[in-house]
Amino acid sequence: MENFIGVFDSGMGGVTVLADLAESLPYENFIFYGDSINAPYGIKDQNDIIDLTDEAVKGLIDRGAKVVVIACNTATSASINYLRDKYSVPIIGMEPAIKPAMKENNGGHIFVMATPMTLKLDKFNSLINRLKGKGKVIKISSPRLVTLVENGVINGDEIEDYIKEIFLEYDIKKMESIVLGCTHFLYLKRVLLNIFGENIKIYDGNMGTVRRVKQILEEKSISTKNQDKGYLRIENSLSDEMVEQSFELFNKYQKLKR
Ligand code: DGL
Repeated sequence: MENFIGVFDSGMGGVTVLADLAESLPYENFIFYGDSINAPYGIKDQNDIIDLTDEAVKGLIDRGAKVVVIACNTATSASINYLRDKYSVPIIGMEPAIKPAMKENNGGHIFVMATPMTLKLDKFNSLINRLKGKGKVIKISSPRLVTLVENGVINGDEIEDYIKEIFLEYDIKKMESIVLGCTHFLYLKRVLLNIFGENIKIYDGNMGTVRRVKQILEEKSISTKNQDKGYLRIENSLSDEMVEQSFELFNKYQKLKR
């Protein structure tokens, strides 16, 4: 049986989580599966998201994944409870980093960028309710932004103009921070800082997920015994070009972080 960690996203967004995992766990093997043929998930019915996520997760488990990471906030919100009940393999998901954003908030507004499904579901709203009173949260959803990233558009005038347009109706003078509640948006950090200024704090949930994966590997004593760098495979339901594009985005994301 292969010893690998399976990572799944509706498309390109989860590549950022894959990059952060591979950096923190260099000896582990990874297989990433992106379902670009069905992206974006964020505008689908919850049941459709559950079915698609289940199919992808089952595929990874059937091939021997020892842990599955759902590197997608939308798929996590819609399906994680169902999947955890169904499979015995540990399944780790994403959570928008609202807690640190609220904790460090100095009275400004917190803009949460995520898909319509993530923002609509109980998981997100009960988190907000629990943290109530620690800052005003403004929800921003944009399926088109996901599609632009799927098409490899992560900088330049088109995306900058579009983001400015999305925020036109909001009072951005009060903006203190942005929470990236969709893994596709992690590529947009630089663009967001260019638009809103270097003082805006930007939060994402990637490192929270990486920490949880490390913890599970230790708790269950299933860390790799590899002494050399592990392998990293990327697969995509749409095409080989999407695999190439995923590797390009993987490299770009690593540079963006520096
Ligand atoms: N990457 C996904 C997320 O983190 C969503 C993109 C989609 O709508 O498919 O929410």
